[in-house]
Amino acid sequence: MPAKYVIHHIPANPRFRPVGKLGIVDWREDCSSCHNCVKRDCVYRLYRDEADTLRDEVGYLDYIYQCKGCLSCVQNCTKNILTRVVNPEYHRLGDEYWDWKLRIHSFGGYRLELEGVVDRDDHDYSPESYLDFHRALKWLSPGERCGVFLDCGSGKGRIVLAAARSTFRRVIGVEISPVLNRIAERNLESARPRLRCRDVEFVTVDATTYEFPDDLTCLFIYNPFRGAVLAAVIENLRRSLERAPRALSLIASTPDRFEEALAGASWIAKTEEFHGLRRHVLFRTT
Ligand SMILES: C[S@@+](CC[C@H](N)C(=O)[O-])C[C@H]1O[C@@H](n2cnc3c(N)ncnc32)[C@H](O)[C@@H]1O
Ligand code: SF4
Ligand code: SF4
Repeated sequence: MPAKYVIHHIPANPRFRPVGKLGIVDWREDCSSCHNCVKRDCVYRLYRDEADTLRDEVGYLDYIYQCKGCLSCVQNCTKNILTRVVNPEYHRLGDEYWDWKLRIHSFGGYRLELEGVVDRDDHDYSPESYLDFHRALKWLSPGERCGVFLDCGSGKGRIVLAAARSTFRRVIGVEISPVLNRIAERNLESARPRLRCRDVEFVTVDATTYEFPDDLTCLFIYNPFRGAVLAAVIENLRRSLERAPRALSLIASTPDRFEEALAGASWIAKTEEFHGLRRHVLFRTT
């Protein structure tokens, strides 16, 4: 091409620091300081560059989020304590779109002790990632996505409303906190024109005393409780399946407690798993 038609350009650095996708978690308490990892061996010099940047910033960050994901530091760690993780900020980039799309507000935490729920096995509110939830829904067949969906510990209603965009014929949120459920109701009013499912309901109740509907086919949980509360809810679920035997899928985000509690169960078994922002597992009734 003649030189007069060539537009010359000089690449410029980004104006803002890009939000990186991956990072490495270093569990310092076990680190032997052998320096056989990112500190010395990262081919991209990330650890050193990041440390130089962070030295001048206020606070302390344990994560490096500009990692290229080559995994060499993870494999070379002598103590096997490094893990590659997804930057939560990167994950939220996509999530914020869905709050806007549904016209709802579901970010932010909430502590149950503000309502006098203390000394129990219940966990506080923090929302599941939309992107992970959409990915987990792909585990279900089109037929299963026409059933009845329930989020146990539904918080501000994010997952209930995300499920109501799908083809479920009924969607239910069960939440112990009246304050969170009021926010969920407001979110429902605002999202309603964008929902496919017309039968959406939020119930304010302690899940230990809640009777699961006998037509429930998909249960979602994102780490809402542990210990005695979890055991009571699993027993409620088992009773519902005994009353009305049927196929049921259970999607669990951060499933460690559920996995422990269901380890010896013969009526339900783990069938799928992926690791997004958090680990997700699908259980199906046997
Ligand atoms: C980690 S949050 C998950 C929120 C929601 N599922 C989401 O992903 O957006 C756990 C929720 O469970 C609720 N929860 C805790 N104990 C409960 C109980 N015994 N019965 C019903 N909900 C409970 C909390 O109030 C909190 O909103
Ligand atoms: S995974 Fe590769 S790019 Fe990322 S910090 Fe480790 S060595 Fe560096
Ligand atoms: S290789 Fe592992 S044990 Fe050694 S310095 Fe790095 S993180 Fe610590």
